[in-house]
Amino acid sequence: MTPMLEVADLRHTYGSGPTAHTAVQNLKFEVAAGELACIVGPSGCGKSTLLRCIAGLIKPSEGTVSLHGDKIDRTPEDLAVVFQDYSRSLFPWLSVRGNVEFPLRSRGVARAERRKRAEEALEWVGLSGAGAKYPWQLSGGMQQRVSIARALACQPSLLLMDEPFASVDAQTRFELEDLLLRVRHEHESTVLLVTHDIDESVYLGDRVLVLSKSPASIVADLTVDLPAQRDQITTRESKNFVALRSEVARLLHNQPAAEPEPVVRPASSAAEDEAAAQRFLEAEREQTRQTSR
Ligand SMILES: Nc1ncnc2c1ncn2[C@@H]1O[C@H](COP(=O)(O)OP(=O)(O)OP(=O)(O)O)[C@@H](O)[C@H]1O
Ligand SMILES: [Mg+2]
Repeated sequence: MTPMLEVADLRHTYGSGPTAHTAVQNLKFEVAAGELACIVGPSGCGKSTLLRCIAGLIKPSEGTVSLHGDKIDRTPEDLAVVFQDYSRSLFPWLSVRGNVEFPLRSRGVARAERRKRAEEALEWVGLSGAGAKYPWQLSGGMQQRVSIARALACQPSLLLMDEPFASVDAQTRFELEDLLLRVRHEHESTVLLVTHDIDESVYLGDRVLVLSKSPASIVADLTVDLPAQRDQITTRESKNFVALRSEVARLLHNQPAAEPEPVVRPASSAAEDEAAAQRFLEAEREQTRQTSR
């Protein structure tokens, strides 16, 4: 059977020449329909780069990404992304309902259908009744719920989430994790979620893909052997959970230190620094002149 998502021999290098930086390399994995796969990796290893390649936001330097067997070369309509920073991804001048409807509008969905889907999605995330409010009238956790509702309203075959709960407090994080688990079961969604939180990857995932330090490649692909029904207290204290989180932690911490990258300064930067220092000194002299008058 064709997998929902197939990533084959993916590499992405930013820039070229001496300043080139390879963020991800040799990435190869599949995600089946209905699966929730978590990607966990050290800070800066290339997680967001991988998601951007999958979302068709950047063209990988090498390799391919396929959705339902079709090669992705631009953002597919049936894919939605939830980012970490809800405050930058919601439009402050649009109401909550307007925000949720926004991507449907650009997909040409008729007005009545847009309204219906937005109301439904807001209900799934526990925000029915908040449609007329503006994002800035909501708490951080509520704003992230709006981002999730906006993604769900698109009825995506694949939902990509980049550290979606990293900007909220611990209590809200637990609530949003459980919200995601409930929604994905109700809608049989396929989700690829990036996190740097080991516990979160095990708590949410059917699978955990562990990435190496930069440039990221996959060091392990672990099946999460936990009941589908999870609970923040009992699941986290279960033997299997504790064993898995230790295994992921070991895999992350036992990696050889990355080769230090050569620091290459663009030729112009020394001259720019010099000019900035001159401007600073000039401003300081001017201030001294003013105050001594
Ligand atoms: N547009 C860009 N141009 C050049 N280098 C970039 C660009 N975006 C990311 N990088 C570099 O690629 C590497 C991977 O970045 P990326 O954002 O994918 O990592 P990440 O794992 O998502 O990090 P974090 O854990 O902080 O979210 C980093 O070294 C980063 O500096
Ligand atoms: Mg990132």
